[in-house]
Amino acid sequence: MIDKINNLLKRVEEFRPQAAAEIEEFRVRMLGRKGEMNDIFEEFKKVSPELKKEFGQKINALKNLIADKIAALKAEMADAEDPSDASLDMTRPGTNDPIGSRHPISTVKNRIVEIFARMGYTVAEGPEIEDDWHVFSALNFPPEHPARDMQDTFFIRKNPDILLRTHTSSIQVRTMEKQKPPIRVICPGRVFRNEAISYRAHCIFHQVEGLYIDENVSFADLKQSILYFAKEMFGEKARIRMRPSYFPFTEPSAEVDVSCNLCGGKGCNVCKHTGWLEIMGCGMVDPNVLEASGIDPKKYSGFAFGMGVERIAMLKYGVKDLRLYFENDVRFLRQFDSVL
Ligand code: DAH
Repeated sequence: MIDKINNLLKRVEEFRPQAAAEIEEFRVRMLGRKGEMNDIFEEFKKVSPELKKEFGQKINALKNLIADKIAALKAEMADAEDPSDASLDMTRPGTNDPIGSRHPISTVKNRIVEIFARMGYTVAEGPEIEDDWHVFSALNFPPEHPARDMQDTFFIRKNPDILLRTHTSSIQVRTMEKQKPPIRVICPGRVFRNEAISYRAHCIFHQVEGLYIDENVSFADLKQSILYFAKEMFGEKARIRMRPSYFPFTEPSAEVDVSCNLCGGKGCNVCKHTGWLEIMGCGMVDPNVLEASGIDPKKYSGFAFGMGVERIAMLKYGVKDLRLYFENDVRFLRQFDSVL
């Protein structure tokens, strides 16, 4: 019997499984109902009473040893199968962390700013939550002007009116209040209007405002600056035309069209067969506006302009539905990676 115990002990010590299945097989062979330990227990019954204690201890120790070894081997095997170790295959291709792309609205806004920066403009910014003075009153909007209506403007509070700015022209006012001429600023920003969302309108969009004030600034300076911008933005062949218009804060005022860059001015779907695309409003700063901000209109004159970034982006990229810019679908956004 002692030989059997020693023999079993040796086999247990030498057991080196290659696979998990071998461990289970071993367990059944050793500890199973018809296993080797069972044989030993059977034999134990025949052991003489005076040797029972000694053998009993040996057999129990052997049984525990086998059980411990099986548990240890199983744990070892499970570790080896851990997928975190499997990923240590150095020959596998690396995982890709795709970097995003710049939003086309940011790209176009940066491009506009960059073009005007070359003409000596610096960037000015202002708050999105504004008061009535900076959005309307200082810009010569009469009290009954429809833009002040609840239907167009998001009000936060009434009397005194606090609202979401409806245009970046408010930054003009803030700049004139702080700075003495010469002033040459470009003001990008987000604006808000109470509009139903459709392919051509959104309640949130972006504008870039420009303001130039100095002695002897003329309409010819305005025209030339806008022409330079149009050529830089839409290509050397771009032409502009100005149509008389009205804004409370400029006099005279104009609407600027650029020749359609898709058909070259011949007429197509995008320009509705006119050959022209409207890109911005502009004009000579109204003397009332200069005065409201503490600038002497007898000494200084200036021009201002304002354009929608989404509009320029749509024309530049031929995108017909404005809503695409707000959905943030990466498949749409990625297409503009290197267009500008
Ligand atoms: N603020 C105008 C708008 O939101 C755009 C604009 C027109 C700005 C003419 C100007 C300007 O500075 O001179 O429609």
